[in-house]
Amino acid sequence: MEYKKLIELAIDARDNMTYTPYSHFNVGCAVEMEDGSVYTGGNIEIASYSPTNCAERTAIFKAVSEGKREIKKIAVVGDSDYTFPCGVCRQVIREFSKNPEIIVANSTEDYKIFGMEEILPHSFGPEDLDGDENDRK
Ligand code: THU
Repeated sequence: MEYKKLIELAIDARDNMTYTPYSHFNVGCAVEMEDGSVYTGGNIEIASYSPTNCAERTAIFKAVSEGKREIKKIAVVGDSDYTFPCGVCRQVIREFSKNPEIIVANSTEDYKIFGMEEILPHSFGPEDLDGDENDRK
């Protein structure tokens, strides 16, 4: 899917899919998986704060729970000037791709694209564990 379309879906998620009664800081995410399917999500806040789920994880977990395992592109749109994925979400993105295109957008006209190595250098990932590749399917 082209960048602009994915960003539009992330903007729609930011505007319509969040639950942010505490921070009122809205973030939306649209993730395109290797098979072309797209999942969207917003951040979800919890009164005791730590269970709060970022928009990126909401969208990725929706995809993973539908059996998808490989991220192709992920677009993030928040309420700040270029809202970057937090550290936890960077690790979650890494779990489901070694080199996705990470699009951090202010609008469909104003966005930047990053690689995994740029935002999470020298990462630890599934390949570091001595697992059977089939276990991740
Ligand atoms: N948040 C996200 O959803 N994604 C990010 O990349 C950064 C932070 C959320 C978490 C919390 O609900 C709010 O933004 C303020 O931290």
